[in-house]
Amino acid sequence: MKRIAVLTSGGDAPGMNACIRGAVRAGLYYGMEVYGIVRGYDGMINDNFIEMDDRSVSNIIQKGGTILKSARSDEFRTKEGRAKAYENIKKHGIDGLVVIGGNGTFTGAGLFYDEFKIPCVGAPGTIDNDLYGTDFTIGYDTAVNTCLAAIDKIRDTADAHERCFFIEVMGRDTGYIAVRSAIAGGAEMAILPEEHTDIEDIIKRLKYGTSDSKASHIIIVAEGEKSGRASDIANEVKERIPALDVKVTILGHVQRGGAPTAADRVLASRLGLAAVEGLWNGQTNVMAGIINRNLIYTPFQETITKKKPIKDELTRIIEVLNGRKYQE
Ligand code: F6P
Repeated sequence: MKRIAVLTSGGDAPGMNACIRGAVRAGLYYGMEVYGIVRGYDGMINDNFIEMDDRSVSNIIQKGGTILKSARSDEFRTKEGRAKAYENIKKHGIDGLVVIGGNGTFTGAGLFYDEFKIPCVGAPGTIDNDLYGTDFTIGYDTAVNTCLAAIDKIRDTADAHERCFFIEVMGRDTGYIAVRSAIAGGAEMAILPEEHTDIEDIIKRLKYGTSDSKASHIIIVAEGEKSGRASDIANEVKERIPALDVKVTILGHVQRGGAPTAADRVLASRLGLAAVEGLWNGQTNVMAGIINRNLIYTPFQETITKKKPIKDELTRIIEVLNGRKYQE
């Protein structure tokens, strides 16, 4: 393996730059030439390759976004698109790929390997933490901390005006961001796609709260919640408990930006290095991840198809610590 290329794909995540830095510096350390592909798979198709040296990645470990830009490429989903991409990989003499992204990114890399046998190792870069094969994905910790900063501020105004806030967070179809920011933010409830949502139960709990001198509420809603968006749930609550002053805040893309936390920078550096060492040692179609503090390579096939369930213990923390007594 003499020449490798690195790309970021899918939704950007804080720590992607630290991971690019890890991969580029690791590649150079092993004596390889390293290229960056700009705009993910679209850049591969459109011949957007840049040679990188150790200075190309200086002063980026602390930055959000990705210096290599990111895209969700529709063309790479087609056989013709991947064939164009392969022409460019051949032209630049690339022997292996490091892809930083989520499930869509690894699906693309797997297909590309099946068709053209270009070895590829992935690093999990997504705020959603929805990948099997790693306890945490790059960007998740920063996103949760961004939510937390917002929740703390909303709590001040919720308390001052004695209001009930429904705060919608990202996470695609999982509730990872919701559950962790709900625990850390001391929320009364977290509404997650992984759990059956019983609107009657939410109403009961809120009624109990209001009749018990509890005047403000923070409820975190995952965007992928099956029974509706935060605004749908809030509207129903407003109708059923008119006395409650209900507000909705959608945190949105603020969760994707900002300087990565120390945890994300360390994780990204570890996994950038691990991805390159995986390639160097002959691995392909695997994602580098950390499970129980150990570095593990998991086949793309598993990261794509297997679910990483949210532990009941986490949802129970919210249930038990929300200030209500146990009722049979
Ligand atoms: O996967 C990251 C993520 O931010 C999800 O949480 C969210 O559902 C999605 O991307 C939003 O994508 P886009 O920025 O393309 O609207």
